[in-house]
Amino acid sequence: MTPSHVAGAIHADAGAPQPRWLDVPEDVNALVPELWSQGVAKDDQGVLTVAGLTVTEIAEQVGTPVYLLDEEDLRARARAFRTAFDGWTVYYAGKSFLCTAVARWVAEEGLGVDVCTGGELAIALRAGVDPARIGLHGNNKSEAELRDALQAGVGRIIVDSFDEIARLGHLAAETDRTPQVLVRVTTGVEAHTHEYIATAHEDQKFGFSIAGGAALRALRECHDHPRLELVGIHSHIGSQIFEPDGFEVAARRTLRLRAELAEHTGRELPELDLGGGFGIAYTTADTPATPEELAAAMRKIIESECAALGASLPRLSIEPGRAISGPTTFALYRVGTVKPVELDGGHVRLYVSVDGGMSDNIRTALYGADYSATLASRRSAAEPVLSRVVGKHCEGGDILVRDEFLPGDIAPGDLIAVPAAGAYSRSMASNYNHVPRPPVVAVRDGRLTTLVRRETLDDLLRLDVG
Ligand SMILES: Cc1ncc(COP(=O)(O)O)c(C=O)c1O
Repeated sequence: MTPSHVAGAIHADAGAPQPRWLDVPEDVNALVPELWSQGVAKDDQGVLTVAGLTVTEIAEQVGTPVYLLDEEDLRARARAFRTAFDGWTVYYAGKSFLCTAVARWVAEEGLGVDVCTGGELAIALRAGVDPARIGLHGNNKSEAELRDALQAGVGRIIVDSFDEIARLGHLAAETDRTPQVLVRVTTGVEAHTHEYIATAHEDQKFGFSIAGGAALRALRECHDHPRLELVGIHSHIGSQIFEPDGFEVAARRTLRLRAELAEHTGRELPELDLGGGFGIAYTTADTPATPEELAAAMRKIIESECAALGASLPRLSIEPGRAISGPTTFALYRVGTVKPVELDGGHVRLYVSVDGGMSDNIRTALYGADYSATLASRRSAAEPVLSRVVGKHCEGGDILVRDEFLPGDIAPGDLIAVPAAGAYSRSMASNYNHVPRPPVVAVRDGRLTTLVRRETLDDLLRLDVG
């Protein structure tokens, strides 16, 4: 690693300070289409537009920061999964972003909804999603959450611990229900971005280990339970997955587990859920597969594995979240201050401070996630300059976009847009520094609809009772 305050010729040889994947753009005003929703473009003045509206007029109407969600694009992504995975059940993973409108739209496009708390369940129910098409996850569901789910008639509950199997069995008897359950297993595969590790990744809070034998025991316990109807096995291997290899190993291990259970019980479980995690493009370094490519690869894996085991094909389901909600939305910010900072080796980084920050997108600070950005309110003739888009919080790690080339004349008052902000941004937003959370506004056919309104200082003050 290069020491941080070395000057002079040797250090200058260390090269440019941007990451390898980030090239100096030929045209700093141009959009990289893969990063944006289908309704996004730039007009003749270089102003970003979405579904027929310029961001300058949107900012005037609704203010900044704001998450702008392209409704047609979200519907199209939901449809693309449903069509590509024809015959499977596609559950939209609500944790990526859930509000009643989005729950309604995905249900209208034929998807179920996967929730993991009582709050997400309440939103899905309020949206009118058929409870039979809702799945409830969570490693520590409370009695109240389980009871609500049972009373609502939630279609399936994914159990995650022996404590929960007992708790759910007890509540099922109390409410006179027999819920359908899937057992969440850990397959020993953990996938992240372009890599996956198929060894011993059992050291986590989710699921029952296949390798350690707990998965088989949990399945047998559910199978034998008079108040639970065991229907399947659930596996979720990680996030931002670009290659099917991880799913292949997970499918093989879960199908073998299914066969092992069948040896004990004489019954093949009807269902297998392979979870979510399908990757999206945050930067030019990301190359996601299409739903068709994913579906073709996953079908092949399941069919060949079932043939090898002499097993019947299970009913299949998946739970994409980010791949449906992520690319549909960009975050729009107003620049407040611009500060060139000299780096070692004679390089300069432009710190561009905007009116949001880690409270509306924690992923960069939390996971070291990379994002992209564009000057959204005008065309610039200035040279591209290596920039860092940062927020307004009292925290050095308050970074929204770690590395991006922005025009060197970027100035206070300009608008900046950050694509791929639809998943795990608003849903993980906080009130750090008592900053109110931005609204989510949908754009369709030149019309704006507020889906989640902007929080106000009054909202925050009302919570502080004393
Ligand atoms: C069980 C389960 N299903 C689905 C998802 C959705 O993942 P993604 O949004 O990456 O598709 C997650 C994410 O954490 C999950 O834990």
